Amino acid sequence: MGYNVAIDGPAGAGKSTIARAVAGRLGLIYVDTGAMYRAITVFLLRKHVDLSDEKAVAAQCNEADITIRYQGNQQVVILNGENVNPFLRTEEVSRLTSVVSAQSAVREKLRSLQIRLAAESDCIMDGRDIGTCVLPHADVKIYLTASSAVRAKRRYEEQAARGIVCDLKQIQADIEERDYRDMHREVAPLVQASDAVLVDTSEMTIEEVTEHIISLCRR
Ligand code: DC
Repeated sequence: MGYNVAIDGPAGAGKSTIARAVAGRLGLIYVDTGAMYRAITVFLLRKHVDLSDEKAVAAQCNEADITIRYQGNQQVVILNGENVNPFLRTEEVSRLTSVVSAQSAVREKLRSLQIRLAAESDCIMDGRDIGTCVLPHADVKIYLTASSAVRAKRRYEEQAARGIVCDLKQIQADIEERDYRDMHREVAPLVQASDAVLVDTSEMTIEEVTEHIISLCRR
């Protein structure tokens, strides 16, 4: 295995921003596993598969070839030969990915791809089950969280900066609904690994969190 850092936590805790910054500083590859689950969701939506039908989802999963490429330090998800990055971040895909990712066939497929990536490279990988299921022997494990009110406010401000008008209360409700699904599913639920360091970012800046994690990696 390479040198592996696992970062897990709920949606909007800042995992990808922090993981990208730490990767840049420590010369690691950043692996965004949420993007892989999002790509499978895009594939199933395009195939009009009934997402609640586990057998149909499992059968279709075999038709989805997912690989990861890097352009500079940007991760590009390739679905059956196509770069699907532009389709991964819509509200619909965000909502439905938490339904799709609850299914064991989907998780098994992506877990083996993630294990291979971690074996081939020194990486920082973020997701929901990295420290518990994918890389239980990671060198450093972080559980990154923040209150749902803070996470909703960050998302609201991100959208506002892009000129998108949205409802703060609705964003918080959506975040809490996704948290509930991710934490209560039967397969690989989001939970803090017993040997993960808890970092609550509610009152911290991006720089503070980045420095803290780098110091944990260097220790
Ligand atoms: O991190 P994200 O918001 O891009 O993740 C999208 C969804 O995928 C989220 O609902 C949880 C799920 N996911 C997961 O179940 N396991 C992972 N390792 C990564 C993401």
